Amino acid sequence: MLRVALVGITGRMGRVVAELATAAPDIELIAGLLSPGRDLAEAARLLPCNVRLTHDRFELVTDVDVVIDFSRPEVTAEAAIAAADAGVAFVSGTTGLRESEFAAIRQAAASIPVVHATNFSIGVAVLLRIVPKLARVLASWDCELLERHHRQKRDAPSGTALTLARVIAAARAVNTPFVYGRGPGLAMRQPGELGIHAIRAGGEIGRHTLLFASDEEGIEITHWAQSRRTYAAGALQAARLLVGRPPGLYQFADLLFDM
Ligand SMILES: NC(=O)c1ccc[n+]([C@@H]2O[C@H](COP(=O)([O-])OP(=O)(O)OC[C@H]3O[C@@H](n4cnc5c(N)ncnc54)[C@H](OP(=O)(O)O)[C@@H]3O)[C@@H](O)[C@H]2O)c1
Repeated sequence: MLRVALVGITGRMGRVVAELATAAPDIELIAGLLSPGRDLAEAARLLPCNVRLTHDRFELVTDVDVVIDFSRPEVTAEAAIAAADAGVAFVSGTTGLRESEFAAIRQAAASIPVVHATNFSIGVAVLLRIVPKLARVLASWDCELLERHHRQKRDAPSGTALTLARVIAAARAVNTPFVYGRGPGLAMRQPGELGIHAIRAGGEIGRHTLLFASDEEGIEITHWAQSRRTYAAGALQAARLLVGRPPGLYQFADLLFDM
């Protein structure tokens, strides 16, 4: 049995991960980290099974094989260090991380296996494999990214949009700063620019459109999630594939397709 601890267990993503983990025959959901203001008994009522709930990240990582995290950037950094101290694998899907929080993840990956993915869906993992080829072959075509998410999302643009943009920029070997939205002063497109546009509305789970266009034609590729289950299932699969590997920072797509 894979023994899992969950950071963000009361959140939109955490609750779906808890539900799928409880239903999976090979996974035991052992523990969950609560935010400081959360009452233990009230949190227990939200969950599908009996889990060790705690406010203490060191208690969280006791007697588990892997920590799965869908929370906030500052919590992610602390959880990564706690997982490393306990020698426990770490899977994080939290987005909006700053450089200092990425540094904590890299530090943890020196002693434990870690995967951080801005999107745990299979579709985006496949897209990340295809996009560099498209970006290179269509190097002279304009490229813009459009993403839509629910109104409560905290970061913009989405981590997935930024990941896609970075992959395209790397494939084209350009380092022009991304253009975020267009408005007065930024209306006209400059050569080589990569525009990213974020929409926040309603309950949209997550939709990303990648647009390549020349003067004569265009290609649009859209990925959308029908529910949070796709991300939760991907994170649990990442945990299965990660535990037992040597320390290091792994890519979700590499775990799925190459290893
Ligand atoms: N990689 C992917 O595939 C993927 C997919 C979807 C979302 N995400 C990302 O996952 C993250 C979570 O998304 P969400 O929609 O689930 O957000 P959410 O509903 O706001 O959940 C955030 C969770 O973090 C907890 N938390 C906040 N501060 C904390 C603290 N100081 N200590 C411990 N726990 C704390 C919250 O606890 P309370 O409930 O007590 O506030 C809640 O359980 C976001 O960064 C989002 O962009 C990634």
